[in-house]
Amino acid sequence: MRNHYIGLMSGTSLDGADGVLVDFSGDTLRVVASATEAFPAAFRAELLALNTSGPDELHRAAMAANQLAVLYARVVLSLVQQGATQGIAADRITAIGAHGQTVRHQPSLTSATASKAGYTLQLNNPALLAELTGLDVVADFRSRDVAAGGQGAPLAPAFHQGVFGQADATVCVLNLGGISNLSVLPPAGQGLVLGFDCGAGNALMDAWCQRHTGAAFDASGAWAASGRLLPGLLASLLDDAYFALPPPKSTGRDLFSLAWLEGKLAAFSGERPEDIQNTLAEFTVSPCVAAVSSYGKDSKRLVVCGGGAFNQHLMARLQAGLPLCRVESSDLHGLPPLQVEAAAFAWLARQTMQRLPGNLPGVTGAAGPRVLGAIYPA
Ligand SMILES: Nc1ncnc2c1ncn2[C@@H]1O[C@H](COP(=O)(O)OP(=O)(O)O)[C@@H](O)[C@H]1O
Ligand SMILES: [Mg+2]
Repeated sequence: MRNHYIGLMSGTSLDGADGVLVDFSGDTLRVVASATEAFPAAFRAELLALNTSGPDELHRAAMAANQLAVLYARVVLSLVQQGATQGIAADRITAIGAHGQTVRHQPSLTSATASKAGYTLQLNNPALLAELTGLDVVADFRSRDVAAGGQGAPLAPAFHQGVFGQADATVCVLNLGGISNLSVLPPAGQGLVLGFDCGAGNALMDAWCQRHTGAAFDASGAWAASGRLLPGLLASLLDDAYFALPPPKSTGRDLFSLAWLEGKLAAFSGERPEDIQNTLAEFTVSPCVAAVSSYGKDSKRLVVCGGGAFNQHLMARLQAGLPLCRVESSDLHGLPPLQVEAAAFAWLARQTMQRLPGNLPGVTGAAGPRVLGAIYPA
């Protein structure tokens, strides 16, 4: 039975590409293999630069897309090899779902007139990936939802519902990637799934940590935990129109960029770096707590995925802000934090190959369910 799919996710943290090989033939999905390729520092820097306009950016974007496809192909090769050792031949893999690398996310320009339609742009070269792997590739998942008036994001909530939803209780799922996004999953058959981007996730904490310690991220959140909160800075960070917007809403590095952070930090230049890190952690946590409190208040469980689930300081602060909720890693529900979003793109590829919708209009705000993505046959 050809019911195996590969999902590839590289998010706004710019840390690397996570991949999973998923078997969908049983009642519950099974991750057969996982692999990761870290982004080399120069590639990471180039992707970060491509988030804003710069000289020769069309050429540079195309070259970055090619390099991403080569990195993706390495992840796929590892997954195919691991699958083979378990008796899963490559011809049993139906397709790869390849998210690509978001460098612009401007969906809210969308209005009734096509000339004012918004857009979301993921660098990717699915043609090259199909050539390198010999597998069908599904890519560009977000554009169709944006074309239908939606945010194009988040796309994981339908998958979260299938994996983490419960028959008799509301469950919240928080993905702490570069940006944070929440899914609120009502008991089966009772109400609509909600989902939206809460605000910054790890992106700004990573940038601050890199600058002051040289490390790409604050392992376990130990550095943030060593600092103290700067209430004035926190208030200034939270003073952004995004937080007052009702869902559907989504965001990215377009808003929560280093330039944005530097503007906010200008008045706090004398403060200790660890206190700023502690405050950035609180800036990540606070909108997530507010989102769960407003939209998932019946929930007794907050399942956390994405690399932020490894940040013990963030997890402790979430728990402190949500005393009635049990805050736990997705690991406890059978999916390690860095496999959840990749598995979501394996699921989204499966939806596309079966010509089934991948979006939830109640989440993204699109005019209706849409079959997402474009297929690049092997
Ligand atoms: N051990 C850890 N301790 C603290 N933070 C971590 C750890 N491992 C990963 N992270 C954080 O998770 C991020 C990667 O998360 P990920 O889910 O891949 O995000 P994205 O989808 O945006 O790439 C890293 O940039 C880092 O901030
Ligand atoms: Mg990542």
